[in-house]
Order: sequence, then C-alpha cells, then structure tokens
Amino acid sequence: MDAHKQLTIGLFGFGVVGEGLYKVLQQTPSLKATIKKVCIKDAAKKRNAPADLFTTDKNVLLNDEEINVIVEVIDDANAAFKIVSTALKNKKDVVSASKKMIAEHLTELLKLQKETGQSFLCEAAACASIPVIRNLEEYYDNDLLHSIKAIVNGSTNFILTKMFEEKLGFKEALLLAQQLGFAESNPKLDVEGYDAVNKWTFLLTHAYGIIESPENILFTGIQNINAGDANVAREKNYEIKLVAQAKKLNNGKVAAFVLPQFIKQDDHLAFVKNEYNGVVIESGFADKQFFYGKGAGSFPTASAVLSDIAALRYQYHYEYKKLYHHKPHQLDNDFYLRVYVSFDDLRHIPRENFEWIEEWHAGEQRKYLVGVLSFNQLKNNDWWRKHNNSLILLPDPVIENIEIKKLKKKSLELAGLI
Ligand code: HSE
Repeated sequence: MDAHKQLTIGLFGFGVVGEGLYKVLQQTPSLKATIKKVCIKDAAKKRNAPADLFTTDKNVLLNDEEINVIVEVIDDANAAFKIVSTALKNKKDVVSASKKMIAEHLTELLKLQKETGQSFLCEAAACASIPVIRNLEEYYDNDLLHSIKAIVNGSTNFILTKMFEEKLGFKEALLLAQQLGFAESNPKLDVEGYDAVNKWTFLLTHAYGIIESPENILFTGIQNINAGDANVAREKNYEIKLVAQAKKLNNGKVAAFVLPQFIKQDDHLAFVKNEYNGVVIESGFADKQFFYGKGAGSFPTASAVLSDIAALRYQYHYEYKKLYHHKPHQLDNDFYLRVYVSFDDLRHIPRENFEWIEEWHAGEQRKYLVGVLSFNQLKNNDWWRKHNNSLILLPDPVIENIEIKKLKKKSLELAGLI
C-alpha cells in the first residue's frame, strides 16, 4: 500500500468505539480512508448513519476485494478471532481493539501475521489513546527496559476515583462508568481485573517478548477493596490504584502481575484519575518516563484506531522485535512482595505463610496486617481472595530473592525479636 492509496475499510461493530471511529473519520478527510460497509449483530437497532452502510453478513466485508482494511471493534472475542483470521488470510490488513481476543489468541495471531505478511495493529486495545504499543515496540530496547507499571483499565480507575474522592457508592460509580461507555458489556471483566490482565498479556509481548496466557499471570481486581482500606490509605498518605507491573529481576527474568497497589502521592500514577490511564517506564539512562491519556471512551479509543489506519498507508507492521530479534524474556515466580491484607476474621489469615509481618492490627475498628509473602505463595493459594480479605501491594512491592534474608533479619531486629 503506498501513502497515496485509498484505504477502503470494512468495519465490524458500531458500538461506542465503532461509531466514534465513523464520526472521527468524517472529520479527517485528508486520511483518504472511507468506510465502505459496517457489519453489525443487531439489524433492528437504530444507528446514526445511512441504513445502506450496514449489513449483518460478515462475508460481505470479508470477501469484498475492494476492502483492503478490516477494522474490528466488537466485544465477542471468539467471533472477533474468526473475523480477524479470515481477514488476514484474505489479504486484508487488520486494526483491532479486542483485547480479550488478542490475549487469548496471541500465539495464533503471531503465526497468522508471519504466514500472511499482513499487518495486524491494535494500539487501541491497550490504554486507548496512549500510544504505548508503538513506543514499546519501536523505542525501548529490551536491555534498557527495567520496569513498567501502569494503570491500564479506565473503568476501575474511574470507580476508585468516584468512590474515594467523590464518595459515590460502588454500584453508582460502576453505573456511571457504564453510562459513559467505559465499562465492558460484562463489567465483571473490568472490576475483577480480567480486562487489565488481558491488556498486560500482550503489552508484555511488546515490552519483553514474553508470550504467556492471561491465566498464568497473577491478577485480581478491585472487587474486595472497601472503605476501611481507603481509610488506611488516607492515613498513610497513599492512593489505591489497580496497577499492572513488570520488573526485570537480577536474574534477567521478569516479575509481572496485576494487583491493587498503594501509590505514594508523589508517584506519577497518583495523578491518574477517572478514566485516564498512565504508564511509567523506567529505562536505563533515561530514568522515569510517564505516559498519560484517556484509557477508555469513544473518541479516545477511536483516535488510536485512526492512528493505526493512518500507519497502514506506510505498511507499518509490528516487528515484535523483543520476540524475534532479541532473546525473549521469561516470567519468574521466584521473588517476594510487600503486601497489606485486611480481613474480617484473623483465623482466615495463614500467618505462618508470611516471611515476616511488619504491622498487625486486630481491633474492632480495623483489622489488617502488612507483611511479606513469596510470590509463589500468592499464586498458588487463594486464601487472600476469600472471606472479604483484600490484598493491596505496598509501594515498590517487589523484593528480590537475593535481598530477602538480609531484609528479614533487619525486620526481626527492628521488632526486637532477635
Ligand atoms: N473497559 C475498558 C476500560 C475499555 O475500562 O479500560 C477500554 O479498554
């Protein structure tokens, strides 16, 4: 495709993102990209576009030779994968925003891109308006990327902001996120961390060449965070955020997880409110860099789709440099985390599983502890997910294997136990 060639688009989905893209494209005639047909599921629904634009037959788009770009923004992951794989095999470039589909079919998508030579771009699938994928692909060399921590789900960040800063109830805050078009059609995906871990799955591929399925990455959402946790956060001068984190360990492997985290007020992520997302990258020599922008919503997501469409004029495709041109990294479970756990009943807390406990409150008003757990302990047991316990990481939560003995000794000394 040369830079002057007309892009003829077949669009799948006309929901929050699809309609946003339709409007945004009308305002950018210089792009020379037009939507020829839109495939929708529900023919009866009233749409803000001419009726002859729509069809319910996917093959009308997939078999149209004039259509050279398929844009897929539906939320049924299985249907999306069928559409994307057929489109690539039919020699069409694809732009997708389906994070669940990408996370669940990563290996197949990589294979299809190799076999067909077509582009598959998905900037809108993670952090919506923030160009995080292209930056990880193009700018950050594997060896220099020390860590990334990010807020990648707009709805949970919106809910936490509304609950703890504006005192809305959880249900009210979620309803508002749904009305504004931020939440998934099944909001459990947002609230319980599935959406965030799906995004983290393929961001780890672009950052470190890691290919892992989402269920192998430790995650939870904000479902157990309560007002008591927010009070503790306030006393300690922290914010609570759902944070996706990856950190290169001394052994060269990568620690990665998606868990709620206490964030210090001077941390860049503390600045990220409502549906905004933020990414803090620590890299060799540059120290910290912070990317910030809207992580959900119609136009912000459409803007990333638009940018991918524009990039197709230059035959842009992901090279997956960290995977194919470097030695890909592996995930590691051999490290420790500093955690806060609040509970209703201390009998549900296996104290013996902690390396050490730094703080312990078991009064009527407040029941929580702060301590250190091995990552394996968290990954292989679910006591911390049950009985209304909530688990929140402390700032800078990762403790490396080589540091643990020294820190444990120091902590026991401080507590007067040795
Ligand atoms: N439900 C998603 C979110 C939409 O809240 O981040 C954007 O991917």
